Amino acid sequence: VIAFRDVLRAADRAAIERITQSSGFFSPAELLVALEVFDDALRDAASGYRFHLAEVDGAVVGYACWGKDTLTESSFELYWIAIDDGWRGHGIGRRLGRRAEAAVLDEAPAGAQLFAETAGREQYLPTRRFYEREGYRQVAVLPDYYAPGDDMVVYCKRLSPGLPQRLP
Ligand SMILES: CC(C)(COP(=O)(O)OP(=O)(O)OC[C@H]1O[C@@H](n2cnc3c(N)ncnc32)[C@H](O)[C@@H]1OP(=O)(O)O)[C@@H](O)C(=O)NCCC(=O)NCCS
Repeated sequence: VIAFRDVLRAADRAAIERITQSSGFFSPAELLVALEVFDDALRDAASGYRFHLAEVDGAVVGYACWGKDTLTESSFELYWIAIDDGWRGHGIGRRLGRRAEAAVLDEAPAGAQLFAETAGREQYLPTRRFYEREGYRQVAVLPDYYAPGDDMVVYCKRLSPGLPQRLP
């Protein structure tokens, strides 16, 4: 049974660490940032970072974290989305992403758009496919952004209030 929640508990920190590491996609520095963001969000609900967690039989197996880009009217960023290695391909990432979209729409019904930054290298091909399947468009490539030969690829999804965004 998959359940979702968006209120954090202190015990979720270990799950965030485990899931982020299990992905094999994030560097130790990126893991530290993910945990710092979690700590901020746990301490202060107004931190600007919002989390959605997916649980299977009470164990957290995936999460998404998003927030509003400061100094913009209705641009939001999906900072992290990660599913435990053993739970990928079961529709959990899609459902987490849709929950984030619905929450963004609650905050900015008009003109909301959700950005996701990812990498252009081969390892991230599945990630890019995921965004494309979810209706994100590639809007920019920043050549050699992360390192020489390692581009940033920016995806964007424009959110429409009329569409059913939230999946069961
Ligand atoms: C990318 C990620 C979040 C996707 O979550 P998921 O639960 O595995 O994906 P879902 O099962 O919800 O799939 C949703 C859609 O994306 C597609 N998709 C997911 N993984 C894919 C893959 N490896 N290759 C191609 N398409 C993929 C699915 O086919 C599905 O589309 P469809 O139903 O129309 O066929 C997850 O695989 C993950 O944690 N990856 C590692 C971390 C990462 O890259 N995070 C993003 C940081 S930039």
